[in-house]
Amino acid sequence: MSDAPQPEAPPQLFSQAFAADPYPAYAWLRTHAPVRWTRLPSGVEAWLVTRYADAKQALADPRLSKNPAHHAEPAGAEGRTGIPGERKAELMTHLLNIDPPDHTRLRRLVSKAFTPRRVAAFTPRVQELADRLIDGFAGRGSADLIHEFAFPLPIYAICDMLGVPAEDQDDFRDWAGMMIRHGGGPRGGVARSVKKMRGYLTELIHRKRSDLGDDLISGLIRASDHGEHLTENEAAAMCFVLLFAGFETTVNLIGNGTYALLTHPEQRRALAGSLARGERALLETGVEELLRFDGPVELATWRFATRPVELGGQRIAEGEPVLVVLAAADRDPERFARPDALDLSRRDNQHLGYGHGIHYCLGAPLARLEGQTALATLLRRLPDLGLAADPADLRWRGGLIMRGLRELPVAFTP
Ligand code: HEM
Repeated sequence: MSDAPQPEAPPQLFSQAFAADPYPAYAWLRTHAPVRWTRLPSGVEAWLVTRYADAKQALADPRLSKNPAHHAEPAGAEGRTGIPGERKAELMTHLLNIDPPDHTRLRRLVSKAFTPRRVAAFTPRVQELADRLIDGFAGRGSADLIHEFAFPLPIYAICDMLGVPAEDQDDFRDWAGMMIRHGGGPRGGVARSVKKMRGYLTELIHRKRSDLGDDLISGLIRASDHGEHLTENEAAAMCFVLLFAGFETTVNLIGNGTYALLTHPEQRRALAGSLARGERALLETGVEELLRFDGPVELATWRFATRPVELGGQRIAEGEPVLVVLAAADRDPERFARPDALDLSRRDNQHLGYGHGIHYCLGAPLARLEGQTALATLLRRLPDLGLAADPADLRWRGGLIMRGLRELPVAFTP
């Protein structure tokens, strides 16, 4: 059994209290209704999968497609379900909404350019960014770590890596800010920001084609596999998904991770001590544990049954949507010892925070680099960093897929 207190009755999902702490509700679901047909706030209904074993199976099941065209929409809904990519106008083909063989081809091409080696070479740049952002508020004694640190770091990092010129990066910051503030909802401002970002990327790719450098966009243009290349449209969609999949996730890794450290002083002391001794092992296992304990992606992105599928004793019919609740699976006591305890030194930690199977996070090496650098730099530079708010007053974003704080007020000695 999990040691999180479990509600006795079926929990109310998607409320304010749920957004602040969904884990008791997930413990209830794992025990009483591990694969459960649920109405989401948008009105769409989907299966929620909460046990680790079922989650892992679902993430790797080829009968569960990522293509929203397989969604059997209820009569009259006609593309109004709020499932990203389902509305024709927004439809954009990228890794997260396609299946093999197209997925295999695109993933192979992008993997030739977005390599662990490229990420490793980027280490000093991420360090510089983290230091520059901390310089911006270190003299003040207080800050909102979401707006001043967790939010700008990943957007500048990915812009740099792609090769977006420095003078245009603040536009990206604004567009990304609009997207994160208003979630993925089909609101005007978000749609406009997406359109602007996409337009900009398309033009940048076009320009780079005749002036290749050593940035990631040039790498994507150069990448070839058995004579195949990305088309300009595919390259633009690829850049977009790198930004889109790699931005809010990393903001939340830094935000949720810092929050967890600040609310678990013993763990934080152990990490600070090990960093002061020049060790990295606890930082590395620690960032994985923070992903498991309170990861950025609460639910993996949509899947749709292309055939009937048995999962956790339920029969999922063709066309029905499936949402794998990574946050619930990663606290499953059947898989993890003391799942509700934060243990930065945890070793047996095959968490699903980056997904599993063919859609396993492509950006995991970059996310690890950013997460490790951000947390280590904060602890080193601001040794007495403390929370400047009552945890009960902190506001969490109520988005469906992501889990993260709206703000994280902190105080420290300037
Ligand atoms: C896929 C998590 C950072 C790029 C995924 C998936 C998860 C995930 C759970 C699988 C989704 C599914 O199966 O439905 C995370 C977390 C991150 C992070 C927790 C940060 C801590 C990044 C970064 C990038 C990135 C920094 C790139 C710059 C991608 C891409 C995919 C993906 C392109 C789609 C891969 C595919 O479909 O083949 N990520 N991600 N992610 N992620 Fe990440």
